[in-house]
Amino acid sequence: MSAQLAIIIAGASGDLAQKKLLPALFSLYAQQLLPAEFRIFGFARTPLTDAAFRTRAAEHLTCRYTPEAQACAALMAQFLARCHYVAGEYGSRDAFLDLADRVRQIAGSLGGPRLFYLAIPPAIFLDTARALGDTGLIACDAPGDDWTRVVIEKPFGRDRASSDRLAAELARVFTDEQTYRIDHYLGKEVLQNLLVLRFANQVFEPLWNRTYVRDVRICWKEDLGVGARAGYFDAYGIVRDVMQNHLMQMLALTAMEPPVAFAAQAIRNEKVRVLRAIPPLRPEDLVLGQYAAAARGAGGRPAYRAEPGVPPDSRTATYAAAVLRVENERWRGVPFFVECGKALDGQLAAIHLRFRDVPSNIFDQTAPGLPPNELIIRVQPDEGIFYRIVNKVPGLNLRLEPTELNLRYRTAFPGVIPEAYESLLLDVIKGDKSLFIRGDELAAAWDIFDAVLPAVDARPAVPELYPYGSRGPAGRAQLAARHGLELEPPA
Ligand code: BG6
Repeated sequence: MSAQLAIIIAGASGDLAQKKLLPALFSLYAQQLLPAEFRIFGFARTPLTDAAFRTRAAEHLTCRYTPEAQACAALMAQFLARCHYVAGEYGSRDAFLDLADRVRQIAGSLGGPRLFYLAIPPAIFLDTARALGDTGLIACDAPGDDWTRVVIEKPFGRDRASSDRLAAELARVFTDEQTYRIDHYLGKEVLQNLLVLRFANQVFEPLWNRTYVRDVRICWKEDLGVGARAGYFDAYGIVRDVMQNHLMQMLALTAMEPPVAFAAQAIRNEKVRVLRAIPPLRPEDLVLGQYAAAARGAGGRPAYRAEPGVPPDSRTATYAAAVLRVENERWRGVPFFVECGKALDGQLAAIHLRFRDVPSNIFDQTAPGLPPNELIIRVQPDEGIFYRIVNKVPGLNLRLEPTELNLRYRTAFPGVIPEAYESLLLDVIKGDKSLFIRGDELAAAWDIFDAVLPAVDARPAVPELYPYGSRGPAGRAQLAARHGLELEPPA
């Protein structure tokens, strides 16, 4: 690793930079994983001095890796001294030239590795990329230590066509090699463990197919509404915000075939292959919902349409459930129920594989209808892997009950569990693209949804309403029932 590194964050005064990126970089610094001569340059429209930028950044840094207060405070001071700020307009070449001057002054030169992070809203994305390109700051694409890499955040377009256009425009500025398309869910520990669980253990893979698995459910929910992000969210909605990316990545890792090697190209080849095996979602297999005020005590739990910044007649979906099929030898006939929603009855991201019934139940007399085995991979909160099996309850009679074999990360792994952004930023610095989205993978994920997006955008009525804090709209259970799925209470 080179001893130098300039990290340039466009959108540095925003939530993503302040709450995720700077804390993740501090965590890497605390673990001595950043090059000795690193510098961070924040760039955004808000006028801020270096000192003010540092004060803001300090609010979100945590001492997870250095619990001792004095040592942590000293480390924070050293880290913040390496953070600088330049204000300017995103589409302005001159503003980025000012930034380049600042980098030159402070870092000594413009040479050495440079990491650009575009933590900015989609509307200004292209202008910023073009302005950056015009400055020549991105030009270097040399192998070895003199690299320039650019990290971009979703949404990558609004559908397949606009995503392709965006990719073509960006290709004028950054090479594909330089581009790191991030989906931060891929940095989450449990998802990073999924390929290990599947392919480093003999017990799972033989059962991981249509012969033994009855259905797969991927559940993502948050117990809060849109909060301060109404402007962005109302323009995109939950299908584009979560389902097309985070859920499809979870699905791809669950359903993909074993890669020929544990290497970026091989892994991504298999993810593309499985995504392409999913036929376009049919409108009748999609349910959309929007949260209404909480049934009781609406205070603080308003309807989506009453949230600040949301138009009072908005038809944007805050909940979506879909049943997808993976048309290949492994999965044909197994429904994949995927759902995501805001303002639901809890916070959860989990994958459930429910197995088929035992072929013949010898306990029929005492326990007719044994509950099926279920493997639950809980991504968050309280990471873990659980296997629901049937057991004899200790006692003098024969009573059978489902119980969980459980691997709760918090107890099994006493160390700190890294945040997704720590892991992903470190990968960018190392040049490891395994956990980043390749262009063809992005296209394949859009292809699944393209046919339903016009209906998502132009529904004549509002999506089905559901109360804030509930499990979602009534259509959810009806969709599941149509596909022979029972929705159990989440683990
Ligand atoms: C983002 C979505 O990608 O992920 C948000 O835009 C969502 O709507 C967020 O809240 C959830 O991320 P995490 O890591 O908190 O689960």
